[in-house]
Amino acid sequence: MDSRRDRHENVSVERALRDYADRNPESRRRHLAARRVLPGGHTRTVLHHRPFPLTFVAAHGATLVDADGHEYVDVLGDYTAGLLGHGDGRVLAAVHEAMSTLSSVGGVHPHEVVLAELMCARFEIERVRFTNSGTEANLMAIATAQRATGRRTVLVFDGGYHGGVLSFAAGPSPSNVPHHFVVAPYNDLAATRASIAEHGDDLACVVVEPMLGSGGCIPATAEFLRGVFESTRKAGAVCIADEVMTSRHGRRGLADLLGVRPDLTTYGKYLGGGFSFGAFGGSADLMDQFDTARPSYLGHAGTFNNNVATMVAGQVVLGEAFTAGVAEAHTARGEEFRADVAAVLARHELPVSVSGLGSMMSLHARATAPVSAAEAAQRDPALQELMFLGLYERGIYTAPRGMMNLSLALTDDHLALSLDALDAILTDLSAVSRP
Ligand SMILES: Cc1ncc(COP(=O)(O)O)c(C=O)c1O
Repeated sequence: MDSRRDRHENVSVERALRDYADRNPESRRRHLAARRVLPGGHTRTVLHHRPFPLTFVAAHGATLVDADGHEYVDVLGDYTAGLLGHGDGRVLAAVHEAMSTLSSVGGVHPHEVVLAELMCARFEIERVRFTNSGTEANLMAIATAQRATGRRTVLVFDGGYHGGVLSFAAGPSPSNVPHHFVVAPYNDLAATRASIAEHGDDLACVVVEPMLGSGGCIPATAEFLRGVFESTRKAGAVCIADEVMTSRHGRRGLADLLGVRPDLTTYGKYLGGGFSFGAFGGSADLMDQFDTARPSYLGHAGTFNNNVATMVAGQVVLGEAFTAGVAEAHTARGEEFRADVAAVLARHELPVSVSGLGSMMSLHARATAPVSAAEAAQRDPALQELMFLGLYERGIYTAPRGMMNLSLALTDDHLALSLDALDAILTDLSAVSRP
């Protein structure tokens, strides 16, 4: 980018940020007040963006309402956790009824078994255990593999995200747990095989997202995933698929769609129907290490692991709202929408692309859709920010980094509005970028 265009875009970004602040005085006031007690004014870093995040005060279906009274079509779907949309009556009724008779049980109760049965049947796993988050699910899956193999090395991928303490975007995070991690390049089978060969003797497990979610909605190729699992097993290590985001794809999740079978899988997000959720599961062989009938069982604690609200909400999700048939249809709907987004992008000469699979996708301010985290990082930050702010101004809520996750509550009209808004912002940006 030449410096003239650079200056030009900076002016546009500054103006867009100013307009945003002017449009949202009450959110700004609340943000400044929040900063006095919450560092940065938030308690989930990904929700922060310039100049300040909006405060949402109400939500229904696929609509979010902010503190200044603006309404937004929610195309972000809480980073995949909001699959059902806001205020699903079935979840609310079931949780209300269950919690009227059972809450903070401090003991075993029937709801956890029902959800476990639903999960085992749906995802074709033999055993499952519940946690409070996807992060914990991954920590426990790693512990399961380490204990089973007696090894300690964990192979992960560049751009992978498995939780706040298991983050490998732009290098390992200082908040990461102190495991011995080896980081391989995503979608690069030869380099990953070389890494597995190098660390094979001490390799406990490979943890892989079948599609990099936070890393830019970059699907693994089937060949990559198959090859990684094959080499991992050959090395005597455990294959862990992190499907915290991607279990929504197809009837059994993305690993299954890509034709591979993990030894352990981790789950989270939407499966809790809006409540905190995580789970890990797989073969009886690995999971029965937690069987307390064994003298040397592996312990797994967590006050809220079997909390009634989540256990009941999860039953509504898997048993009623997001059956295997609905999941397949939703994946197909996402494919159609991504094609529609690509068609809008093709009408403009700006370097913007879309990546993803099924109902998860991401806009990238770069000419071609990335196939690795390194490629995803090579984008035009000003254009990315202008797209985000422009969509916001037109009533469409996406992630600042471009992520969009379709919920079941989005109607065809909502999707059409989103496409129109994208077309409009790209038209405006094309006019601005012309010398
Ligand atoms: C692939 C993946 N794994 C794990 C996690 C962590 O889940 P949680 O935020 O529930 O701890 C996330 C969260 O975004 C994720 O995207």
